[in-house]
Amino acid sequence: MVSGGGSNLQALLDGAGDAVEFALVLSNKSDAFALERAAKAGVPTKVVHYEDYPDRRAFTQSILDIMKDSGIDLICLAGFNRILDPVLVDAYPLRMMNTHPALLPAFGGAGMYGHHVHEAVLTSGAKLSGATVHFVTPETDAGPIILQAVVPVLDDDTPEALAQRVLRAEHRIYPAAVRLFAQDRLEVTGNRVRIKPAN
Ligand code: GRF
Repeated sequence: MVSGGGSNLQALLDGAGDAVEFALVLSNKSDAFALERAAKAGVPTKVVHYEDYPDRRAFTQSILDIMKDSGIDLICLAGFNRILDPVLVDAYPLRMMNTHPALLPAFGGAGMYGHHVHEAVLTSGAKLSGATVHFVTPETDAGPIILQAVVPVLDDDTPEALAQRVLRAEHRIYPAAVRLFAQDRLEVTGNRVRIKPAN
C-alpha cells in the first residue's frame, strides 16, 4: 500500500525474492509515482480515494474487500499516508508490516511521520537514528519489531539529509523482513519477534 514515490516498493520489488508474488499495489493517490513502478514491474494496481467514502471505516472496508479478492497473505505499508480503521489490521493479524523512519519505540506514534520524525530526532540531540520494520497492530507504530537498522546522526545534518540516510536503511531491511516472512522464519511472542534459523 503506497501513497507517494514508492522507493520502498521498489526495494521490495527488487529484493523480496522469488518466493514472493506481488498480487497488488494499492494507492490512495492516483498520481503516486509508486503506481508507475508497479506497472513497470507488471504488478496490478488499484487506486482508492479517501474522499470517495463517507468515513474512515468505509474507506478501510473497501480496501479490505479488495485485499480479500486479491487473495493476499501479507500487506506491506510502504509510505501509505492515511490512518486506517482497525478493521483491516484485525483481518490480517501479524500479516501486515510497516516501515517507520526511526528507531521505534522512540520517535513514533501520532504526528510522527515524514519530516516530523527527522526534525524531532535532530531536536532531541540523539546521535543515532535508523529504520524499523514492524508488524502493524491497532496502536500506531507499536507492533512487534521485526528488523531495525541504525544510521548516524551527523553534526551538520538537515532533516532532508537524515531522511535520505534512513531511507537507504529502510531499503535494506524491508525486503529482508519480507523474505523472512515468506520463509516462515518469524516467530512472534508478545511484542518480541524471534528470527528462526534457515532450514
Ligand atoms: C518512508 O520513509 C517510510 O518510512 C515512510 O514514508 C516513506 C516512504 O517513502 N512511512 P517511499 O514512498 O517508499 O519512497
